[in-house]
Amino acid sequence: MTREIRKVGVVGLGAMGAGIAQLCVEAGIDTVGREVTLELAEKAHGKIAHFLTRKVEKGRLEQSACDAAVARLSLTSELGDLAECDLVIEAIVEDLAPKQELFRELERACRADAVLATNTSALSVTEIASVLEKPERVVGMHFFNPAPLMPLVEIVRAELSSDDAFETAYALGETLGKHPIRCFDTPGFVVNRVLIPLLNDCIRVLDEARVSVEDLDAGMKHGAGWPMGPCELVDLVGIDVHVHASEALYEKTRVERMAPPPRLVAMRNAGLLGRKSGRGFYSY
Ligand code: 3HC
Repeated sequence: MTREIRKVGVVGLGAMGAGIAQLCVEAGIDTVGREVTLELAEKAHGKIAHFLTRKVEKGRLEQSACDAAVARLSLTSELGDLAECDLVIEAIVEDLAPKQELFRELERACRADAVLATNTSALSVTEIASVLEKPERVVGMHFFNPAPLMPLVEIVRAELSSDDAFETAYALGETLGKHPIRCFDTPGFVVNRVLIPLLNDCIRVLDEARVSVEDLDAGMKHGAGWPMGPCELVDLVGIDVHVHASEALYEKTRVERMAPPPRLVAMRNAGLLGRKSGRGFYSY
């Protein structure tokens, strides 16, 4: 059984949250975007309006549809403004304690029948849900970066997720024009379980094969059909985000390949975070 989703809340409007909010308003869903300050929320609003305007300029979206989409997004810094949402997607910092704290607050702020979804990429959905009185309402909805462009969303069933919450999230994934896949709450779910060690291997090969960053990227693009090279991809995801996800998966699985390569840890420590900091493997 699934429920109709008329209003969605997105908590955390960083790269992922802003992308998810964009998808929701483009799909015709009224969306409340929440950031800790209205200033940060406005920044995300500007980004969303920019990407929608680019679609108009490229003839992929009518101006009227763009205006209607932007008008569907309301901004807030108050969790209380999520009270009418049918489903809320959390996309805040990737740390367990703040996520658990937020979910506790969401349980109080939202309607009792609202589905609460987390966009976590490497934490356990079950652990996030464990602090709630009704953990049944929690599922994972894991989008890929950049969310408006990547077709996949993993719909993650935690130990106690109800069928209703799980299928409602799946149906929302379809409404957003995504290709949803169903999976259980295991470390890295499906794609990151494969992609994170693979990217780590790629970075280790940089030193082992003494290949240049550009040649490694060319190798994987032209020899393996990747849309972008591994170094470009880690720059896009964020070197801090990738290192953090690697550490979380290594902690859970103890599989050596999950551990972040020292080169990436050093780059993270030096503030070379990829596109968002202007420098990573490449300069932007
Ligand atoms: N949000 C919204 N719109 C965006 C955007 C964003 N973040 N980034 C780009 N766009 C829009 C832009 O308007 C752009 O057009 P413009 O440059 O003319 O304004 C338009 O999309 C097209 O962008 P590109 O020309 O760059 O599109 P490409 O055809 O080159 O494809 C790509 C880009 C889809 C990113 C492709 O290179 C790709 O598939 N790369 C692989 C990405 C990937 O693997 N992601 C997964 C990362 S892992 C992950 O997310 C897991 C997590 O848990 C860490």
